Amino acid sequence: MYGIDLLMKEHLNIIAFTEYMKNCCCAILEGADVDAAQFAECIDFARVYADKHHHGKEEQILFRHMLENPSSVTEKLVRNGMLVEHDFGRFHITELENALKLYTEYPCTKNKLYVITHAAAYADLLQRHIQKEDNVCFTYAQRLLSNAEKDQIDAEAKAFEEKAEQNGIPQKYLAWLDMRG
Ligand SMILES: [Fe+2]
Ligand SMILES: [Fe+2]
Repeated sequence: MYGIDLLMKEHLNIIAFTEYMKNCCCAILEGADVDAAQFAECIDFARVYADKHHHGKEEQILFRHMLENPSSVTEKLVRNGMLVEHDFGRFHITELENALKLYTEYPCTKNKLYVITHAAAYADLLQRHIQKEDNVCFTYAQRLLSNAEKDQIDAEAKAFEEKAEQNGIPQKYLAWLDMRG
């Protein structure tokens, strides 16, 4: 199924990105200074590629179709699980941005901890989230959805992807990731 295969391929890129974020945190723990420009690039990747591009397809296409088949399992898994975790990811990125601003103004150890806390929490959250989607949520979706719904999801995912490619989104962010992988 094109729509789900595409999301799972993007998961590999997001895992590579979160490993890079963890490496940035480890460098600080080993004595490096906080590189605000490096974290600003991570925030941009998280907001545009991971959230707008990837979570965008999940929320506007796959999850929307799943929720059109109302059941307590779908509600629990999608609305109370996956969507809540997307929001926690956004929270950690906002807090990372706040922490960087504060650290730039007052570069003390506590503000360094503030930066590492939210960068590492985001990376850990996304890695666990992706495991749940790959192993539970997407396999459940394959059983839940009719063939007509799957075809519809594939068509919508293709249109979303074509538009993003016209704007150079996946090309730009995968090139950035490639240089850091
Ligand atoms: Fe997700
Ligand atoms: Fe995902």
